[in-house]
Amino acid sequence: MTSQHHQHGNAHGNAHGNGNGHRHGHGHGHVPAADFDWDALAAHLEHEADLRAAAVTEAARWLSDLYDQGLQGPEGTGGVRRVLDVGSGPGVIAGLLAEAFPAAEVVAVDQSAALLERARTRSGARLGTQQADLPAEFDKLGEADLVWSGNAIHHLGDQQAALTSLAGVLRPGGLLAVAERGLPARYLPRDFGLGRPGFQSRLDAAHEDGFSTMRAELPGSTEEVEDWPAMLERAGLTPSGTRTFLVDRPAPLDRRTREYLRTQLGRLHDQLADSLPPEDRSTLEALLDEEAPTGILHRPDAFYLSAMTVHTARKS
Ligand SMILES: C[S@@+](CC[C@H](N)C(=O)[O-])C[C@H]1O[C@@H](n2cnc3c(N)ncnc32)[C@H](O)[C@@H]1O
Repeated sequence: MTSQHHQHGNAHGNAHGNGNGHRHGHGHGHVPAADFDWDALAAHLEHEADLRAAAVTEAARWLSDLYDQGLQGPEGTGGVRRVLDVGSGPGVIAGLLAEAFPAAEVVAVDQSAALLERARTRSGARLGTQQADLPAEFDKLGEADLVWSGNAIHHLGDQQAALTSLAGVLRPGGLLAVAERGLPARYLPRDFGLGRPGFQSRLDAAHEDGFSTMRAELPGSTEEVEDWPAMLERAGLTPSGTRTFLVDRPAPLDRRTREYLRTQLGRLHDQLADSLPPEDRSTLEALLDEEAPTGILHRPDAFYLSAMTVHTARKS
């Protein structure tokens, strides 16, 4: 299948593409009509997932509690036995889910064989993998007690149909947890001494337009008001709560996080440069400068602040 994506302020929710290296452009800054090469983004996706690791672990603890609260009597489901991470990418988050649910079989599901291979290399036998090109291959997933999907559903044309298919694989009492949106990442103060203050807000606005274009160009694209709890209810589930988890790396940043930010800004430049006013384009290019002290690799004021929102719902 073919995916269309663009890039967004985060690597997630952005890239999407075929496991066979077809290009797509989008991230959490999505680029209109660009093809995304998910395989090529492997290291970037891993780094972004590493940044969110503490937030994901906290979310997993919450999901474990939520699941237990849903158990009904001795005939209850008996604990989480199988977990799917749908649209797992290179499997960093699936690995965290495996740590959080040590008694469960955890399976990373993605269209990209190359990303799943990275997941296996990192996690070994602890993690199962299943290649599946969605929505055509939802039947490859098997049953689960917990389905996690982070920044992947927005890469499918019909998000409501995708949720309904995911609800279909849940066992009774099972939970679907969808991490979509949250807050766009901030890297810099409102005024950081280059160009017009408010640069990142304008970048976000350009990115949102790109995201809409990306979605409109997906195969089978349908327009949907993105009220995730309502969509989960329409999928036949009972909403069981939404929570947001902070991702907070204050300045000064380590080199690896700076390199992540530079890659992300570079992706945004590739995708959005033509739609930015000249002054903002110059600011973006100054931030990308690898040598200048004002570049993102060197400036002391760079930070990483974002938030991951997780919507949950239960199968009765
Ligand atoms: C933005 S990444 C998110 C990765 C991971 N869930 C995370 O949050 O770090 C989106 C993932 O969805 C996968 N994907 C995109 N479209 C897909 C499709 N149609 N079928 C299966 N996987 C898909 C991509 O290969 C990519 O690994």
